[in-house]
Amino acid sequence: MDSNKKTILAIETSCDETAMALVNAKGKAQSEKENTIPEFEILAEVVASQIDIHRPYGGVVPSLAKREHLKNLPIVFKKIENQYRNLAKAIDYIAVTVGPGLEPALWTGINFAKECAEKCKVPLVGINHLEGHIYSNWLPSKIFNGGTSAIPKINFPAIVLIVSGGHTILLHMESMKKWTKLGETQDDAVGEAFDKVAKMLGLPYPGGPEVERATHQIIGSPTSINSIIFPRPMLHSGDYNFSFSGLKTAVFYYIRSHAPLLSSQSNTSIPHICAGFQEAAIDVLVKKTMRAAEEYGAQSLLLCGGVASNIALQDAFRSAIGALRFAVSFHVPELQYNTDNAVMIAAAAYLGNQYPVDIARGNLTI
Ligand code: KG4
Ligand code: ZN
Repeated sequence: MDSNKKTILAIETSCDETAMALVNAKGKAQSEKENTIPEFEILAEVVASQIDIHRPYGGVVPSLAKREHLKNLPIVFKKIENQYRNLAKAIDYIAVTVGPGLEPALWTGINFAKECAEKCKVPLVGINHLEGHIYSNWLPSKIFNGGTSAIPKINFPAIVLIVSGGHTILLHMESMKKWTKLGETQDDAVGEAFDKVAKMLGLPYPGGPEVERATHQIIGSPTSINSIIFPRPMLHSGDYNFSFSGLKTAVFYYIRSHAPLLSSQSNTSIPHICAGFQEAAIDVLVKKTMRAAEEYGAQSLLLCGGVASNIALQDAFRSAIGALRFAVSFHVPELQYNTDNAVMIAAAAYLGNQYPVDIARGNLTI
């Protein structure tokens, strides 16, 4: 019997998803032994998305997010109970996101988690949402017969790129709990840039998947070679920081000067702009990350956060890794664990750091 085995109820409300999950975690990872593989079994999971509520505003409205979380939390909890009978008896501890994120939204999850912990008489721990994204790489993948595949072993040192709506961070990870931040965005996060470019083009929120979908109309077609060349900010800055605000502005001026042509079939159409923007963003992300992988002799490369769902970004990493002179394994979580979810919060509770739950930490970083 594994004495480290824990059943964790995880709660995530940092932005516009009310998410809860019940997860069995085992393996010796908590003792920092590098040669053991942690195992996660997902017993129940629910994500209640608020996208439809925020879409008319073109982004997340914090007061609406709070209202929706308050409404959804008891409903989501009930659904978890329906998926797993005897829930209260099974839980070893509860984990809740304490930051970073929208403070009014974070508070709803923290307060709900406190009530649950009192009722179930179990400990409550605070979790860093960004660590949730990092450790989502240790979650199992679903396979065809409905089971889950074994988790691939992740060897250290690893380079981790977190790309979400609020963050763009590059980390050098020496062991399961030890990392150094190499760089981060100096202005907009890459997901935010995707969302803003989509908005400029009249595409719905969240813009990332919309921009990617638009590129499919031309990528692989003869006009894709004419895609617009946008600047690659900070590509040669010599450090590991990023900037996406200038790229977004370049797209804005391009749209303004080509407005009359946008709806036409010319090579300045919306798909061309999306492709040009996406290529520029991917180029910077991949080149800087690969430079870090070479400098630190990485054995693994981990991609995570909402933007990690982008297939063109994943493919660009795969081909850049293929061109290296040394072997690097590439890891990216399943689609549903890239965007915000509670399963990753359970993984972070088991593998990462635990924070106090006395306050919502909107600007928490790693
Ligand atoms: O991790 P996440 O769900 O929430 C935050 O922690 O911010 O990331 C959401 C971000 C949004 O900006 C969304 O547009 C972006 O991830 N995103 C994508 C794609 N899917 C989601 N960006 C580019 N391509 C995608 N396929
Ligand atoms: Zn996130």
